[in-house]
Amino acid sequence: MSFIDNDKSDPANQAPAAEAPTGARLVPRITIQAFCEQSQTAQMIEDAAHDRRMAKVALTTHNGGLEGAVETYRSNPTPNLIIVETTLPSETMLAGLERLAEVCDASTRVIVIGHVNDVVLYRELMRSGVSDYIVMPATTPVLVNAISELFAGEGAAPIGRTIAFIGAKGGAGSSSIAHNTAWSIARAIRQDVLVLDLDLPFGTVGLDFNQDPPQGMGDAVFANEKMDVVMLERLMSKAAAHVHLLTAPAVLDRTYDLSERSFEQIIELSQKQVPCVILDIPHVWTEWVRYTLAAVDEIVIVAEPDLANLRNAKNIADIVKGLRPGEHEPLLVINKAGIPKRPEIPADEFAGAVECRLIGQIPFDAAIFGTAANNGQMISEVSATHKINDQLKTIGLEATGRTISAPQSRSAGFKLPDLLRQLKRA
Ligand SMILES: Nc1ncnc2c1ncn2[C@@H]1O[C@H](COP(=O)(O)OP(=O)(O)OP(=O)(O)O)[C@@H](O)[C@H]1O
Ligand SMILES: [Mg+2]
Repeated sequence: MSFIDNDKSDPANQAPAAEAPTGARLVPRITIQAFCEQSQTAQMIEDAAHDRRMAKVALTTHNGGLEGAVETYRSNPTPNLIIVETTLPSETMLAGLERLAEVCDASTRVIVIGHVNDVVLYRELMRSGVSDYIVMPATTPVLVNAISELFAGEGAAPIGRTIAFIGAKGGAGSSSIAHNTAWSIARAIRQDVLVLDLDLPFGTVGLDFNQDPPQGMGDAVFANEKMDVVMLERLMSKAAAHVHLLTAPAVLDRTYDLSERSFEQIIELSQKQVPCVILDIPHVWTEWVRYTLAAVDEIVIVAEPDLANLRNAKNIADIVKGLRPGEHEPLLVINKAGIPKRPEIPADEFAGAVECRLIGQIPFDAAIFGTAANNGQMISEVSATHKINDQLKTIGLEATGRTISAPQSRSAGFKLPDLLRQLKRA
């Protein structure tokens, strides 16, 4: 299978922008993978990467058509959009696409490029969930219009999944886990991730990613109605391939008394631009924290395995369940497990008591977390083979809805009723 990398984030791949209709909106930071059968189709798709509207898109073109796509996604994560060319006749095309659907993540969209001009087939394809059908011979602007309509059109749904990380207690490691999970998602799924530091006075996103951009979250919050997609793009700093940041000002020359909806617009704009938005929420309980937690797609509570964390995690879980009726329970990560001599609540007992789904248990490891924090590196940069990386990958996949975990095994030796009695007495 040949492979032509048109990742526009690589300056070597950047070409002069082609003309696009005035006022046309930029396609957000999505990943597109195309599987072609014919060289002229491949050329048409590669030319699309030069359209001004596609400037933020990471586009790769492969040979192999529908079969190539099915084969690839058996063992690889699917991008935001798959463009697949097929020369199959109507009768077998749907069956082929069904096999592609079986290996696709639910959030992935598909545009089919075919050689059969048949309105009945078109309707069948639309009914089966295909986003668009383009008949060859077609031109690059037709393709770009279809992509643009799908991701940047008036009625286009936001592409981003918002995942909020909040600690059950100060210092539980919520920020460390959030940042490393963001990194892990960018590596494992190869989609763009934006980390928003909502801890304006003390946030560590800049420190942890070793970035000190002149602008960031402070400018975004205080821009009020001037904030738009163009400004968001300007304020975002790039930490690595697929990893973008809005860092906190982390200065105390002013106070940060935010209102309930202070972050609403930034989160909404981020969701329109980036497929995965990680919110690093500080351990405070304010109107804006409650409002933000009610609005995001996924909540991850990071807790240490002790009683105070358990009480707080339960309170957070209960309140957000009430704020988000009909949505599934928050996810739980137990962090700093196994501190020598510290008595601990076993993770599964903890998860059962707070009624959250346990998606990870990260051991206490002062050496690797300390080195990472002091160097402004991620865990996988300090040690690519450390087993914590597997845990972080699982957390990332779970939080992005990519896998459903098997029930965690129960460990013996800890009596939950005693714990609950203590809580009731408190
Ligand atoms: N599993 C771990 N093992 C050892 N140290 C850890 C672990 N997780 C986090 N730490 C360390 O704990 C400290 C606090 O972590 P972090 O700032 O991520 O917590 P937080 O929950 O975000 O705190 P805050 O309440 O200030 O938001 C940091 O020094 C970090 O390096
Ligand atoms: Mg924090």
